[in-house]
Amino acid sequence: MRKALVAGNWKMNGTRASTGELCKGIADGMAALGGVDVLVCPPSILISTAATALANSGVMIGGQDLDTNPGGAFTGQTSAEMLLDAGCKDVIVGHSERRQFYGDTDVLVAEKTQVALDAGLIPIVCLGESQAEREGGVTEEIVGRQLNAVLDKVGIAAFSSAVIAYEPVWAIGTGLTASPEQAQDVHAFIRRMLADKDQSVADQCRILYGGSMKPGNAVELISKPDIDGGLIGGAALASEDFLGICSAA
Ligand code: PGA
Repeated sequence: MRKALVAGNWKMNGTRASTGELCKGIADGMAALGGVDVLVCPPSILISTAATALANSGVMIGGQDLDTNPGGAFTGQTSAEMLLDAGCKDVIVGHSERRQFYGDTDVLVAEKTQVALDAGLIPIVCLGESQAEREGGVTEEIVGRQLNAVLDKVGIAAFSSAVIAYEPVWAIGTGLTASPEQAQDVHAFIRRMLADKDQSVADQCRILYGGSMKPGNAVELISKPDIDGGLIGGAALASEDFLGICSAA
């Protein structure tokens, strides 16, 4: 049985004050939750604030991205070591906004996944097709290509701990959600790809759905057999909404 994971991706939102309030709201709601892992991924500059505010709450902290270099002259970047030192256990890699706006290619996403694993961080590897790709009927081709790039680099065994997030780009921040059936189809496809390499890893690997998940649609999405939780953007910025999704999971 895979334990559900609900991860909040706060993206480029928050101040120290608002982060403190959001963390307090989440921490206060944790006692009522059971059987679900809860993770928040603040912007790098707010990770320490969140780590302090969430100490002993049971909420895990993750990064939103990492650099492939261990350190040095890379202006603006954050290393795996810095994330670990700030209290992170996980890191998102290959989010569609990174792929779209910052040039993260399949090859770079695979390298970032490897660097995260080598450092002892759990990567949350994001995959997903654009609207045009879905309409063109190439969803599996795109998601398969993105996943294979990572599998070829890190190997199947890594996915006994690494997490996958299926996030259709057309559903991110748009209010459009993949139907539970559409999401389940792609999740099952991803799990079959893993199973082709190793059935027991496929059975263990958590595959999250992301894209306009809210308290109102979380139950029907997460109750699908291959959907093991959510990667939440907008709804992760209000503690009641985020906790609503956690309790659905
Ligand atoms: P959303 O974002 O929940 O606001 O659609 C999800 C994500 O980008 O991870």
